[in-house]
Amino acid sequence: MAAAVQGSSDFIVVANRLPVDVVKAPDGTLTWKESPGGLVTALADPQLPQRRLGRLARRPRRGRRADRGPGHAPVPVKLSAQEVEEHYEGFSNGSLWPLYHDVIVKPEYHREWWNTYVEVNRRFAEETAKVAAQGATVWVQDYQLQLVPKMLRMLRPDVKIGFFLHIPFPPVELFMQMPWRREIIEGILGADLVGFHLPGGAQNFLYLASKLAGYSTSKGSIGVRSKFGVVTVGFRSVRVGAFPISIDSADLAATAKLPETRKRARALRKELGDPDKIMLGVDRLDYTKGIDVRLRAIGELYQEGRLDPARHIFVQLATPSRERVESYKSMRNDIELQVGRINGNFGQIGHPAIHYIHRPVPRRELLSFFAAADVMLVTPLRDGMNLVAKEYLACRTDSSGALVLSEFTGAAAELRQAYQCNPHDLEGVKNAIDEAVHQEPEEGKRRMRAMRRQVMQYDVDRWARSFLQTLAGTVDEAPA
Ligand code: ADP
Ligand code: F6P
Repeated sequence: MAAAVQGSSDFIVVANRLPVDVVKAPDGTLTWKESPGGLVTALADPQLPQRRLGRLARRPRRGRRADRGPGHAPVPVKLSAQEVEEHYEGFSNGSLWPLYHDVIVKPEYHREWWNTYVEVNRRFAEETAKVAAQGATVWVQDYQLQLVPKMLRMLRPDVKIGFFLHIPFPPVELFMQMPWRREIIEGILGADLVGFHLPGGAQNFLYLASKLAGYSTSKGSIGVRSKFGVVTVGFRSVRVGAFPISIDSADLAATAKLPETRKRARALRKELGDPDKIMLGVDRLDYTKGIDVRLRAIGELYQEGRLDPARHIFVQLATPSRERVESYKSMRNDIELQVGRINGNFGQIGHPAIHYIHRPVPRRELLSFFAAADVMLVTPLRDGMNLVAKEYLACRTDSSGALVLSEFTGAAAELRQAYQCNPHDLEGVKNAIDEAVHQEPEEGKRRMRAMRRQVMQYDVDRWARSFLQTLAGTVDEAPA
């Protein structure tokens, strides 16, 4: 533990990934690097007065301390290489991730992975128990730590525990594949409040709490401005509800409006050869994101002459992710093959139709891309929420642009005015892209205004507040 302040923290966020990771330069100096993904983006809000507890791959050694990221007080939980392999790459991303994302790739179930998952969850629970003050509030995040609520409750019955799942909770029929299904439901039920992005996830969980684990659950619908579901676990009531996550919309909009951001957006457009329309994709390189789907659609639209590769170009920014997991390696190869093929067929020397970047883009630069893009392509096969869609909308301060959005994202429930499509229906995806590229400006503005209203109103602060106030017992209605 770094800088342990045993038993003094009133509010602790527990997550597998810290907002920052330590990077070692060739000369041995250590610096902090921002971690990728939606969880980190959502919990980056400096208004949250928190200690964060999370996994750190490499710990700065004495005398070589890295400067701490602004506003963070991270408490790293040190894992061995084997634990990372079996807990993170194995059970979290080889079993749970594909199972919870509609088994897009086949989940693997290995007893060693499960045993290490239990061990690592126990370690997180123990470390949390050490730093939590009497009566503290502990907010446990995501699928990598589903056993922590119950383990922590056994160690520290005095603390208030919230659990939020950042990815979809699967349909009951799929969840039943999991060999340790009951342990997972029991683990989550150690919390006082369990949150999902969508009412459907909450309903699936309540059903399993009742039918699989045998607890009594109270009736009542869950979701937009309706009551929570409640599971009775012994003398405790566990509330279960939907809390759709969001972004720091005002901050993004303000940064997108800055003259430097605008200037960079204009420069990007120029560097891309001043095309009529820029289409953009921004994702972790993950098989759930449907990057292959949009590439196939664009390739066919070029082929059919519905898009012109000289005038309608596509930029895909892809952050490397989980690169040691087999399914991620093969997906990367497939996508890069597709990019090469499309450019081979339709690009010109010095003017590729697809621009592909396989590295994280600095935040400011990313916002300039959003400001430059005429059409945002968000086509996951399954996604808990998808913050990228919301970030794009926040950055379009003049309500220009268009969003093509998969129905299989959590965001689709809120962003009805997007060009929605079923990512399994290639013709449907092509039509949505075609319509978005060729939309009338007035029609585009109408859609974007409505979606921006939603995103600007329901921001991350509202998400965090509604979850934490509910956990504190000060409100008893689920948020919109
Ligand atoms: P996930 O949590 O599955 O990664 P989200 O869309 O919810 O997906 O969140 C992804 C976050 O990571 C967003 O804040 C997005 O801006 C950021 N991000 C994704 N791709 C990149 C990239 N290539 N460069 C920089 N940031 C990225
Ligand atoms: O949002 C889902 C999530 O899995 C987070 O838990 C995670 O931090 C993010 O995506 C990025 O994934 P990873 O931490 O595996 O790089």
